[in-house]
Amino acid sequence: MKKIVILSLVFGLAMVGAFAADSQIWGEMRIPNILSYGQEQSLKLGALFTMLQNHYFGKIFLAILVLVPLVFFVHYKVIGPKVFSHEGKKVYAFDMFNRVVHQIAAISFIVIVPTGFVIVFGDFFGGGTFVRLCKNLHGIFTIPFAIVVIPMFVMWVKDMFLHWDDIKWLMIVGGYLSKVKNPVPAGKFNAGQKTWYWLATLGGVLMIVTGAMMYFLDFKIEMLNNITGLSQIDLLRVSAILHNVVGFAVVALFFVHIYMSIFAIKGAIHSILTGYKEEEEVKILHSSWYRKLKEQGKV
Ligand code: HEM
Repeated sequence: MKKIVILSLVFGLAMVGAFAADSQIWGEMRIPNILSYGQEQSLKLGALFTMLQNHYFGKIFLAILVLVPLVFFVHYKVIGPKVFSHEGKKVYAFDMFNRVVHQIAAISFIVIVPTGFVIVFGDFFGGGTFVRLCKNLHGIFTIPFAIVVIPMFVMWVKDMFLHWDDIKWLMIVGGYLSKVKNPVPAGKFNAGQKTWYWLATLGGVLMIVTGAMMYFLDFKIEMLNNITGLSQIDLLRVSAILHNVVGFAVVALFFVHIYMSIFAIKGAIHSILTGYKEEEEVKILHSSWYRKLKEQGKV
């Protein structure tokens, strides 16, 4: 397993290297490409894209920015956080490699998400240097995420497939609508965490690819045009639409992830810093995993 993870890390680095080299090529083709942009529109997405861009994308991002934290605020006030003893025994959950990979992804997102909002609301921020700086930071901080996204996928994938527990977990919304600390059916990761995992990794790759296409605006990859059958301009429009739509889900669940790890489960954040989870937290929130650990004599 370790070997696969390390190989995937090397693959990630190679991909980023290839990207950097390609950006040079794209840069050199910039001028002729703009001239030959060719307005043939394979999908005739122009009107749809303009309509979404002018009337929906900004509003949906604004709704996510306001409503998701509002729901959490109400949840925190009405139900309150889950508090587990930090004095008892601990369970080792995340090794050093898991932690470093995750921390790099976390740092990347802390920059990528706010700068993404500045780009969406570029008009509000008056355009200019600040927005351009954010656009560059948005691109630069994608690089560390691109390096770790495949290792993150590989290192956790075996724990992320659907299980009966997930259905039961969904039916009780993970126990988050109750103040009572009853054991919740879940393995090492619950249904909510699995959803975030799939979105952050597969959705993350899609965000990287579509983002790169827009960042290097004038790219010209005949092969991509041939494979997709799309003209240059429509490939860009598809990228922009996907980047926004997948972005809605990634940003919303990223907010959920932050709320869960920092506010809703008090002290949960320690696990990703030290590797250890509180035994009581595992016993209640990951009861199936706890049972397994008990059978193995690990708790
Ligand atoms: C400031 C940012 C972040 C914080 C504070 C944070 C915190 C945490 C914590 C505490 C856990 C362990 C949860 C548990 O098992 O109880 C975790 C797990 C995880 N994190 Fe993060 N994280 C952050 C950013 C990210 C980013 C940017 C990604 C991916 C793009 C990510 C992906 C994951 C995944 C896939 C897991 C395992 C499944 C899960 O617990 O949801 N995290 N994170």
